[in-house]
Amino acid sequence: MEISVCDSYKILSKRVAIDIIQHTQPLEEPLVCIATGETPKGLYKELRERYNQNSLDISNWRFIELDEWLDLENDCEGSCLRRLNQNLFKPLNVNEEKVCCFDGKTNNPDDECQRVESFLQSYGPIDVAVIGLGMNGHVGFNEPGTDPSLRSHVSELDSVTKQVSQKYFSKSKQLSKGITLGLADLREAKRLILIVSGHKKATIVQQVLEEKISKNLPATLLRDHLNFTVYLDSDAANLLHPI
Ligand code: PGA
Repeated sequence: MEISVCDSYKILSKRVAIDIIQHTQPLEEPLVCIATGETPKGLYKELRERYNQNSLDISNWRFIELDEWLDLENDCEGSCLRRLNQNLFKPLNVNEEKVCCFDGKTNNPDDECQRVESFLQSYGPIDVAVIGLGMNGHVGFNEPGTDPSLRSHVSELDSVTKQVSQKYFSKSKQLSKGITLGLADLREAKRLILIVSGHKKATIVQQVLEEKISKNLPATLLRDHLNFTVYLDSDAANLLHPI
């Protein structure tokens, strides 16, 4: 695991954009997974800017969604799909056929997980996965206590996630479950990137990077991935101890 501390959120976003582009460039049909949430917004912007300046060709990329709320309308405010559509897929003219997303409104979540896993079997493993870090150490909706051998699955949301995630909605929302790629899927990604920004994440960053590997801090279970970089801005890195 490599840790890259960036002076600012803007620099972090730029470095991650360059990292993704460098890793996808030699590939014929890269499969990319980019998280939603607040943290990747700067990265989306970097990718949009490059695309608009004709310096980024993503016509051969495929995308897979990291996670989605279960039982909310797919394109409702706050949904992961809406955020990806607005920030990435529409501005970059990504063809729908190139994207695999979880249907959060499905009547049969097990079949839905199976469908996403079949996509991964056809086009995977993921070439580059960019994920964020929850305030409780989750990645995607792999909440504290999640079995690391799981692939796509339905997850009972942790109370911290339910509370923190209200920020994605204009009115308070009853959130109970999510549907998510599992840690086993993420661990198979050829390149894994964790991005974390801001003072409020400094404590969880310190725990995830310096405490014992544990199911209770899901992101620690990625630490032994062989091609893994953690990009932090200086605020998020604030409590790390010098090596
Ligand atoms: P955030 O979410 O980027 O909005 O902080 C990260 C996460 O919960 O995975």
